[in-house]
Amino acid sequence: MKILVIGGGGREHAVVWKLAQSRRVTKIFCAPGNAGIAEQAECVPIAATDVAALTAFAVERQIDFTVVGPEAPLCAGIVDALAARGRRAFGPSRQAAQLEGSKVFAKRFLLKYGIPTARMEVFTEVGPALECVRRWGAPVVVKADGLAAGKGVIVAQAVAEAEQAVVNILEKKVFGAAGRQVIIEECLTGPEASVMAFVDGQTYRLMSPAQDHKRVSDGDTGPNTGGMGAYSPTPAVAPALEKTIRDIFDRTLAGLREEGMDYRGVLYAGLMLTPTGPQVLEFNCRFGDPETQAVLPRLEGDLLDVLEATAAGRLTEAQLTWTRDTAVCVVLAAGGYPGDYVKGQPIRGLKEAGQLAKVCVFHAGTKRNAAGEIVTDGGRVLGVTALGTDLAGAVRQAYAAVERIHFDGMQYRRDIAARGLPRSQT
Ligand SMILES: Nc1ncnc2c1ncn2[C@@H]1O[C@H](COP(=O)(O)OP(=O)(O)O)[C@@H](O)[C@H]1O
Ligand SMILES: [Mg+2]
Repeated sequence: MKILVIGGGGREHAVVWKLAQSRRVTKIFCAPGNAGIAEQAECVPIAATDVAALTAFAVERQIDFTVVGPEAPLCAGIVDALAARGRRAFGPSRQAAQLEGSKVFAKRFLLKYGIPTARMEVFTEVGPALECVRRWGAPVVVKADGLAAGKGVIVAQAVAEAEQAVVNILEKKVFGAAGRQVIIEECLTGPEASVMAFVDGQTYRLMSPAQDHKRVSDGDTGPNTGGMGAYSPTPAVAPALEKTIRDIFDRTLAGLREEGMDYRGVLYAGLMLTPTGPQVLEFNCRFGDPETQAVLPRLEGDLLDVLEATAAGRLTEAQLTWTRDTAVCVVLAAGGYPGDYVKGQPIRGLKEAGQLAKVCVFHAGTKRNAAGEIVTDGGRVLGVTALGTDLAGAVRQAYAAVERIHFDGMQYRRDIAARGLPRSQT
């Protein structure tokens, strides 16, 4: 089978790497891909957001199955566009992708179907939104409705900060049309966990839970990023919580059916594990990044079988088993990220790191320069994943691999998964 993977980050490298192990896969294209993905796939220079060009490519090259990584093309309707041209794809329709594409849509859905989530109000006018912020007081959360590349949520510790966020979103339009509506939301507390599930329209199968590390620096300090590392499974999601999490997905699927929404793909629930139980912060309509870099290496068997079964509504027939290993992914980022950073720094030690047992070095922002060297080409540059029989072992192995890699300005967190380890081992 000929496969097209859309995207060019660490998530897509993990997907391509896993699909390349499938006996049924004869050829993988990746648009736009990166220098690591190029080892297993033919990269094609089409942006992940260019739905028309991607669809034309899939038709022209007779791609059997397209796997969509990022949310933007899903929310823009790429799966519908491919289906209209007779091309099968993995990911939700444009309508179903609204669960990520519109936070207002998702919150209304959650509240309508009695799924635990923070209280909220929605506004399109500055005045009433400011009035709400003052009435609620701090801390309070302000969210832009639409896709904002992870920058649309402000957890305000003071009323003035929340007011500023409201003005930035509704009046200054810093997120453009994504900020036509704003959500004022109750501030919850607790550790966070990511639970992803394959959903085939009728049923779902949970992947094992993961924990992401959003802040750029150790001890969860500094600005938010796309994610600086992840590990899976996580002891934060105690077995006692599994029933509640199943209940969240049961209600979600029942709600989707009720709404007449045929959701097929990965549904990712961002949860906050509050003192009164897990609550849904948000849904994503695709694999998480970096979570996927810690989850897919633990999948036994053929990823293509699972993705095809999901897309075909035959998920119950799919073989979905996970190794008992724990996986830890440490993201290596460019100096300055998530602010300004330089590109084009040569990366050393990739081979040496990749030779370590049970280590995968996934590329996120890399390319080959004119001299053929692999150089940095983004904020998040690499995701170094190690498997171990226990979390401590996986952490040790991941950092052993990290130590073999170098590029100028390289920064990473030293405490990935530390929260999951007993105090004595951190
Ligand atoms: N109601 C809330 N209370 C406390 N923190 C929140 C709340 N909603 C979101 N957050 C924080 O903001 C982060 C980003 O919010 P999220 O809804 O996941 O949006 P996105 O990932 O699209 O930026 C969350 O990971 C969480 O840390
Ligand atoms: Mg999130």
